[in-house]
Amino acid sequence: MFRTHTCGELRLSDINKATTLSGWVQTIRKFGSITFVDLRDRYGITQLLFSESLNENLEANPLGREFVLQVHGTVNERSNKNNNIPTGEIEILVNEFSILNKSITPPFTIQDDTDGGDDLRMKYRFLDLRRQAVRKNLELRYAVGRSTRNYLHEQSFMDIETPFLIKSTPEGARDFVVPSRMNPGQFYALPQSPQTFKQLLMVSGYDRYYQIVKCFRDEDLRADRQPEFTQIDCEMAFVEQEDILNMFENLIKRIFKDVKNIDYTDKVERMTWENAMWTYGNDKPDIRFDMRLCNLKFPSHTFPGREDISSLISGVDFKVFDEAETVIAIAASNCSEYTRKQTDELTEWVKRPQIGMKGLVYVKCNADGTYKSSVDKFYNEEKLKAIAAAVNAKSGDMIFILAGAEERTRKATSELRLYLGQQLGLRRSDEFKLLWVLDFPLFEYAEDDNRWVARHHPFTSPKPSDIATMINNNPVIENAAEYLKHPYANIKANAYDMVLNGNEIGGGSIRIFQKELQQKMFAALGMDEHEQQHKFGFLLGAFEYGAPPHGGIAFGFDRLCSILGGSESIRDFIAFPKNNSGRDVMIDAPSTIDDKQFDELQIKLDLKA
Ligand code: AMO
Repeated sequence: MFRTHTCGELRLSDINKATTLSGWVQTIRKFGSITFVDLRDRYGITQLLFSESLNENLEANPLGREFVLQVHGTVNERSNKNNNIPTGEIEILVNEFSILNKSITPPFTIQDDTDGGDDLRMKYRFLDLRRQAVRKNLELRYAVGRSTRNYLHEQSFMDIETPFLIKSTPEGARDFVVPSRMNPGQFYALPQSPQTFKQLLMVSGYDRYYQIVKCFRDEDLRADRQPEFTQIDCEMAFVEQEDILNMFENLIKRIFKDVKNIDYTDKVERMTWENAMWTYGNDKPDIRFDMRLCNLKFPSHTFPGREDISSLISGVDFKVFDEAETVIAIAASNCSEYTRKQTDELTEWVKRPQIGMKGLVYVKCNADGTYKSSVDKFYNEEKLKAIAAAVNAKSGDMIFILAGAEERTRKATSELRLYLGQQLGLRRSDEFKLLWVLDFPLFEYAEDDNRWVARHHPFTSPKPSDIATMINNNPVIENAAEYLKHPYANIKANAYDMVLNGNEIGGGSIRIFQKELQQKMFAALGMDEHEQQHKFGFLLGAFEYGAPPHGGIAFGFDRLCSILGGSESIRDFIAFPKNNSGRDVMIDAPSTIDDKQFDELQIKLDLKA
């Protein structure tokens, strides 16, 4: 028997028990004639004590870091206890040991605070995975998966697999493609999501489907994106939006409970997309803190019907505001005492190319009720006071104002809000705030092709009240500069995103289930009948055989895990992730393939420069 116990198991109550442990040598410490070894496995670390009587044996068989070691011994109470680990009150008095395998010196220390850099740890990911910090992340991931499966099973969902070799119909991201040997010159695509398959399953009558499934997207990578990632993919038939929101906020609450022991009793907040953009400048607002945007000036067509308060800032000949399309302010609580150095730093921050603003205006709302601003030349005390009232700033607060083109300024203010929130400690990783963002626009304007694309995907249903607008208007955009005035710009979708702490963790929609409406949608996206048939003939065909009303959602599984684990990067929660160039540096993929493989595929490589 290799072991009677694990390295995380033995306690004071096991004193004097005979035990056999197997694991990896984490550290070796010699004190005179005795040797201490920390032995590690998946379950923990146990201290071993090699007494003088084993010295000869140890000299003949020297131990090294990461050796695989088996020991027989008895459990002993430690004189020098370590309260930081569960096994810290005991140690094993070793009688006998055998080295099961040797290890060369690892390229970095296998400890929580390792000396290994990111690249090195990725190259030797199998060693990195031995570290407790990484193992904890994978354990959390497993717990999230288990909780998800339990909940969905209890709710009568069926886990059904869908194919990975499918047809290429790029919409949104680029497809990864796979050549077919048996069909020379033809290619499969790896699914960006099982979207059309889960809809077909609804047509087939499997009214509650789920799958924890790999998805593949060839897009630019960021900390929260991987080329292959995992979704909790779900679909339901005979449901309205409300049914889906309830079902899946309860899933996330269940995961909070099972994995973090958090009772999320708050009502999950809901916000329309328009309100999110208006008050946070962002479609995935972090609502752990307030600091709402105050739109001092904006082009009326972007937010029709909103109150225009631009008279507060006009009429003083301040060109920066007068000439800007949009002016937006935020108030940072209790920051009026920011120093010149701090405001200068923030100004430099908004001027960085990623943010792209020309400058930052500030107004200090002093505790004594006076105001001091970087634009005192233009705005007297009374005007500053009026601005402060509009922004809801209290005395002691600092108002920051950005001005420029609408889209950029809104985005920049949103970024500044998050940056300040971070600096002020308002974005705690142990606080969780869920939010549904609803009523997304159905279409998005694609500048490069001067056409409409589906904001979510082409299977998303318009709001019933907007269907006539979609059907009765020509999708063609006559004047690209004024695309926002096209009736399509205001069509809303039956689509929803779930946001957790400012991250989009899931998105879905109620689907189109009538063939005619689906054809109209494809046409609105510029697809002629031939293209519709070629790409989605199977779905249009299926809709002729009694497709039920249906809708669904998919959660980013890796993202959900990383947020629950308090990490920025989803890579920490994936056993074998890719780096930012989409490479697996451990197995060195992607790589070239043999000429023989090309021959079998009947493909000749001729790379364009
Ligand atoms: P969507 O494209 O919004 O919807 O994806 C759902 C969720 O998946 C996560 N996600 C990613 N995670 C890591 N790396 C990526 N590259 C990546 N891309 C997306 C996000 C996102 O919210 N079929 C639809 C769902 C539906 O309509 O039911 C879909 O795929 O957290």
